[in-house]
Amino acid sequence: MYKVSLKKIYSLKKKHIGITSITAYDASFAKFFDDLGFDIILIGDSLGEVIKGEKNTHNVSIKEMIYHAQSVSNAVKRSYVIADLPKESCSSNRKILSDSIALFENTKIDMIKIEFDEKNIKLFQKLNDKKIPLCSHLGLRPQFINKKCEFRIYGRTEKEKSEIIRNALLAEKHGAKIILLECVSTSVVKKLRTLLKIPIIGIGSGDNCDGQIIVSYDLLGISFNRLPKFIQKNYICRNVLEKNIKDYINMIKRLPDKC
Ligand code: KIV
Repeated sequence: MYKVSLKKIYSLKKKHIGITSITAYDASFAKFFDDLGFDIILIGDSLGEVIKGEKNTHNVSIKEMIYHAQSVSNAVKRSYVIADLPKESCSSNRKILSDSIALFENTKIDMIKIEFDEKNIKLFQKLNDKKIPLCSHLGLRPQFINKKCEFRIYGRTEKEKSEIIRNALLAEKHGAKIILLECVSTSVVKKLRTLLKIPIIGIGSGDNCDGQIIVSYDLLGISFNRLPKFIQKNYICRNVLEKNIKDYINMIKRLPDKC
């Protein structure tokens, strides 16, 4: 069994084969998705919502990220593994650097994802020098969001469009190896595909990206918070899970009567 490398991900982009990515937070799901053949598994700070039951990702600590990244990366044999740097780690450049090193060195992950902030772009080179590959997350950045109205598509106005394009190019120039675009307009995605050499993974950003990522609990249909609007409903597994589990409950209920 071969391990998916960055080179392999780049070759998928070149061959126009969609890059498949999903989140996992524990060993069992990680093994399941790895065995199914996902190219990338992300330990997302969405664990704040789906694991901890909080309203956003803001309260996830670096300690929690390391714990979940260890569980996932120890279980994965094949997929390329990325972990999020949580909001807590981005309070200063010094903390970004020390927490990234701690996350990378205490786990078996292959890459770290950071929500784009021009203030810390210079750190990309420092992390690259330490052989830590980076993914830059642009568009809707959950760590920066405080109001409901900020959950929307980004890049519809000319100003936002040029800002996202400029920032994505800046991230690539400073050494980002993958760009993740969350809730970005199709026109920006199309433009960026002509400008960037590195792969674009999208979520809620339409079909034109080099690959797609999904929060696993959204795909299962069991997320603690509301499902995002962009989820393709026909792939949600909740009905199948519900039916089998209800059948199991009913079977147990009937057991004593059968003895
Ligand atoms: O934390 C997360 O799950 C993410 C999504 C965009 C996949 O970053």
